Amino acid sequence: MIQLIKGFKDILPGEVELWQEIEKTARALFEDFGFKEIRIPIMERTELFAKSIGEDTDIVEKEMYTFPDRKGELITLRPEATASVCRSYIQHKLYAKDPVRKFYTIGPMFRRERPQKGRYRQFYQINAEIIGVDSPLADVELIFILLTLFSRLSVSDVAAHINSLGCPECRPEFKTALSGFLTSSSGNLCSDCVRRKDRNPLRVLDCKVPACRTAMTGAPSILDHLCPACNEHFEIVKGALKAINVPFTVDKKLVRGLDYYTRTTFEIQTGELGAQNAVAGGGRYDGLIKALGGPDTPATGFAIGFDRLAEIADLNRTDFAQTPDIYIAALGEKNRSLVFEWKCAWGLEGIKADMEFGDKSLKSQMKRAHRLGAKQVLIVGDNEIKQGAVILRDMTTKVQMSIPIEDVVEKIIERS
Ligand code: HAM
Repeated sequence: MIQLIKGFKDILPGEVELWQEIEKTARALFEDFGFKEIRIPIMERTELFAKSIGEDTDIVEKEMYTFPDRKGELITLRPEATASVCRSYIQHKLYAKDPVRKFYTIGPMFRRERPQKGRYRQFYQINAEIIGVDSPLADVELIFILLTLFSRLSVSDVAAHINSLGCPECRPEFKTALSGFLTSSSGNLCSDCVRRKDRNPLRVLDCKVPACRTAMTGAPSILDHLCPACNEHFEIVKGALKAINVPFTVDKKLVRGLDYYTRTTFEIQTGELGAQNAVAGGGRYDGLIKALGGPDTPATGFAIGFDRLAEIADLNRTDFAQTPDIYIAALGEKNRSLVFEWKCAWGLEGIKADMEFGDKSLKSQMKRAHRLGAKQVLIVGDNEIKQGAVILRDMTTKVQMSIPIEDVVEKIIERS
């Protein structure tokens, strides 16, 4: 048997209804807050991701599905959506009419990470991006939307963690201070961090390896190195979150795995997912659109890990199992053709009807109706047709009654 690819998964009926519910709730919320849907391709030129996410990040260095197409051009299955949204904003000059745009997009992403609970190689994200606004209030609005969505989905074990990563003015000074600290403590770092220390020192701050955590106690804090403008920006974020009663924790070690971030960064973390505790992450990326060849435009956004959200929403799920309103058990070829016509017509009226297409005994059809969880069964044999009345059986009470054919639809609706 051919199995699916490691780290990829099927979302089966029974589970998919929860995904639909989450998507419906997210879409409604985004629309209420003025976001418009954008759909972007699943593949892009590799250089788009290399340039935006950063050559020295784990994602670009070792996790992308990159391959030459038939003409030798390097293309990549998207590991995230932000770069593509920016590319689209620039390519279609969406800024010309109105530089301020709010987008959302939902779809699969691909990263060749080591699969484990909550971490897949094809996973789904729900993304929101606000482009063209440098006000800290845009960051606050995003965090507010995230927590509102989680609350609407009855997901309660979540907490917002925020930090500021400064800007090209203040970050180099911080990096120098951090590199100095790392040089003196490099003997205690894990092998990954020894490599990161020179190429991407910020990432050492949020390494989860216990030895690195211990080694990083006393490391300099980016928050002590923010320039006055970044400091003020962050103060407003915190003040506005308090003003709208959004609880948060300032986490000075929160750095993100993508290089484009500036100023506010945040994660929504949960205690329900073990090691993969980030159910959403995001932040500001004020320099990205310019770096990709567009106008100098600030932007901020987030992505929710859809799979992770479905896993924690699952704990509170109601039963989504879909059962037919009516199962039609017909006996004989002629009656089967007749009830097939009924089934098609009823489907158009929103009645969920099911039937057996093959030649099966009444007993086996009743068994199938039971398996499907049908609430009622309609029995249609030669006698019933001759008398112009069919039998309706209530599967819970097991009570049967004879109903004139012309009243059947009304009765089904009344009892379903
Ligand atoms: P990210 O932190 O790389 O950010 O991903 C966002 C979320 O996607 C994570 O918090 C996690 O829930 C989920 N996720 C990431 N990798 C996996 C995986 N292998 N399996 C399952 N879930 C995963 C971004 O992607 C940024 N583009 C977010 C953003 C949008 N920043 C600004 N705008």
